[in-house]
Amino acid sequence: MAIQDSLKKRAHVVHYKTDDIPTRDTIERILRTGYPLATSKQNAFPYKVWVLGPNAERSNKLYQMTEQNKIDFDGDVGDKYHSNPNLFHVKSAPWTLIITPRVAPPNPFAAEQCELTGTQWEMGRESFIPDGRESWGIEVGMVAKTITGAVCDEGLDTSYCICFPKQIEKWQAASGFEFIKYFPYLIQTIGKADLYKWQNMSEDGLKKDTRAPFNDVFEFVD
Ligand SMILES: Cc1cc2nc3c(=O)[nH]c(=O)nc-3n(C[C@H](O)[C@H](O)[C@H](O)COP(=O)(O)O)c2cc1C
Repeated sequence: MAIQDSLKKRAHVVHYKTDDIPTRDTIERILRTGYPLATSKQNAFPYKVWVLGPNAERSNKLYQMTEQNKIDFDGDVGDKYHSNPNLFHVKSAPWTLIITPRVAPPNPFAAEQCELTGTQWEMGRESFIPDGRESWGIEVGMVAKTITGAVCDEGLDTSYCICFPKQIEKWQAASGFEFIKYFPYLIQTIGKADLYKWQNMSEDGLKKDTRAPFNDVFEFVD
């Protein structure tokens, strides 16, 4: 099967079905399929994927945090305010992955190499997390994509959210999320879609909501 066969089925979700809940076994199979397909500098995988099962109350709380983050970011927009439907998936998602930084020890090979060459193991230092975020966020994107492929292969759907508080105090203050010690990289939801973003848009909106042109993104230098 070609990569297109899986990934062409992916589309951003507005609502998940609440009467068609993937089992924990299915989710674990997806994660165990996706994880080894991702890669990481020195095999460190310096992130933690917190896997949250079905819990409507907690999901609603998480959704409120994302919508509030949008409100705080936009400021007072008066009558123009409307809730962002592309955050709704966080509310109805049966399964939610919250991916945060993790202080990661080296494997024996990497530890030996560091010892031999005097190289510092930056992924093992909590103080390095703010500096490491840019690089490690790339790795989170990679595992999110391999998990996405596994989700699609199971006939399920997945969506992403980066609109959430970047202040750890807000996560610590929200009951139910005490395990979040560093603010997340990404929220990824998994379930069976009831409504996709493209189905929730007007024909005119869909025509205008194009991806950036290939030549804006890719440029052959030689
Ligand atoms: C990493 C990532 C994070 C995203 N976070 C948000 C978000 O915070 N808020 C939002 O409205 N949409 C978010 N989206 C959804 C995109 O807006 C959506 O994927 C895009 O409009 C393209 O639609 P499609 O995924 O159906 O092709 C995110 C998408 C990606 C890839």
